[in-house]
Amino acid sequence: MADRNSSSIGSICRNSLFCLLIVIASIFSILSGFFVLCSTSLSHYMSHNLLLNSKYFAIVDSNNSREANQYETKTQPLSSLASKEEAVSHGKYVPDCGANIHALKVFMYDLPPEFHFGLLDWKAKAANVWPDIRSEIPVYPGGLNLQHSIEYWLTLDLLSSGFSGPLHARAATRVHNSSEADVIFVPFFSSLSYNRFSKVKLQEQYSQDKMLQEKLVKFLQVQEEWKRSGGLDHVIMAHHPNSMLEARNQLWPAMFILSDFGRYPPNIANVQKDVIAPYKHVIKSFVNDMSTFDSRPILLYFQGAIYRKDGGIIRQELFYLLKDEKDVHFAFGSIQRDGIKEASQGMHSSKFCLSIAGDTPSSNRLFDAIASHCVPVIISDDIELPFEDVLDYSEFCIFISTSDAINKNYIMNLVRGIRQDDWTRMWKRLKEVEKFFEFQYPSREDDAVQMIWQAVARKVPAVKLKLHRCRRFPPTADGSKEKERAFLVPGNFW
Ligand SMILES: *[C@@H]1O[C@H](CO)[C@@H](O)[C@H](O)[C@H]1NC(C)=O
Ligand SMILES: *[C@@H]1O[C@H](CO)[C@@H](O)[C@H](O)[C@H]1NC(C)=O
Repeated sequence: MADRNSSSIGSICRNSLFCLLIVIASIFSILSGFFVLCSTSLSHYMSHNLLLNSKYFAIVDSNNSREANQYETKTQPLSSLASKEEAVSHGKYVPDCGANIHALKVFMYDLPPEFHFGLLDWKAKAANVWPDIRSEIPVYPGGLNLQHSIEYWLTLDLLSSGFSGPLHARAATRVHNSSEADVIFVPFFSSLSYNRFSKVKLQEQYSQDKMLQEKLVKFLQVQEEWKRSGGLDHVIMAHHPNSMLEARNQLWPAMFILSDFGRYPPNIANVQKDVIAPYKHVIKSFVNDMSTFDSRPILLYFQGAIYRKDGGIIRQELFYLLKDEKDVHFAFGSIQRDGIKEASQGMHSSKFCLSIAGDTPSSNRLFDAIASHCVPVIISDDIELPFEDVLDYSEFCIFISTSDAINKNYIMNLVRGIRQDDWTRMWKRLKEVEKFFEFQYPSREDDAVQMIWQAVARKVPAVKLKLHRCRRFPPTADGSKEKERAFLVPGNFW
């Protein structure tokens, strides 16, 4: 599709003045995304990039006895079980980027259960907001809901902060004094709320999902923590592309955890501000994978819903291009309950697995392919990938632009041309990286939960910079509150 667009733009561009205008317009529209938070955003953006690329990013002293003591003396009952040794080991956590950084300190709002485990039919006992997960862990529904379940795993991880081992593997620790926190976590299970409660029931005006979003916005706007930062240091999960559909327009100063930016304008969500998290794969992990290039008979595999809206139209075109090719499995049908076993078998028997844009740029097929050690072939021009600041996906994925992919024979020539040793190198790398995409409780070192916390932690210096810049002029009785707010309104530069 990009191909068609660009060829039509190409013909317009013969008029060179027009062309110049288009180029200028696109540069401005890209830049405007960076301009929205503070008037000084451009310089902020540059600083952020410098920080990410430099060893000075690791700001925090590697000697954490101070944090450890704080941890011991100031945290509340939940963490009282942590031994000194465990507390110290928090501080020694070394993230994948090689920088020494202490565990991210997270304050979590005690939202009423209707926002989180209540959505899983958990009933609170007495005045408890949270289940005591040492004795009961509410069960998450299986099936496709699980794809967007980051909210459940992250919240469980925070709840267990302080009593579940192995603590050295922790990237985040819960603090109970929000003034000491790096980020403020909003434990709304928004994807589950969308998946289960977005249908408007008879005789109701709103869905429960919409009602909860409204309530959440009202709740946040009166919190001291929100007012203090205008939401900049808040972490809000909206992994399902349709979750938080209403609230995102009000809560956008916060850091979102998303699957992609497909349904977001760039001033509401963007790669500078937000974190991309993996889907939880639905097919089975390939345990003890002893396969080889020759023992995987299928060359190229795709199983998924074929008729999708928006960017997903490419799926149909590829179906007609590939369906009759030798050694290619390209089939209809989303991977539902019964299909999971079959799809697992199929992907475990394939050398390459297609991951094509669906309704939005991301798709769970990528994470299914990684779990199968089937080298992903990604066709999705606007995809954003989890943890890409510390992971080089070109080591284990093939990327094909949409415009190339719809050329006859392009995909097949490329895939047939990949030699056994190159494939084997990517397969080995897949086996190394797969742990970064595993969600589980208790969470383990460098699994998806810890990687997401680390990704949030890498955004913290930029958040602090933004906050400090916005605080240059403290609020006064007269109009400077207005000025403060003006920083936070999404800008439209046209
Ligand atoms: C860290 O702190 C401890 C105790 O305060 C001290 O003995 C040690 O030398 C320090 N290490 C570094 C690397 O500063
Ligand atoms: C929370 O932390 C701040 C800053 O460290 C401190 O001034 C305040 O007294 C603490 N509040 C409580 C209730 O401990």
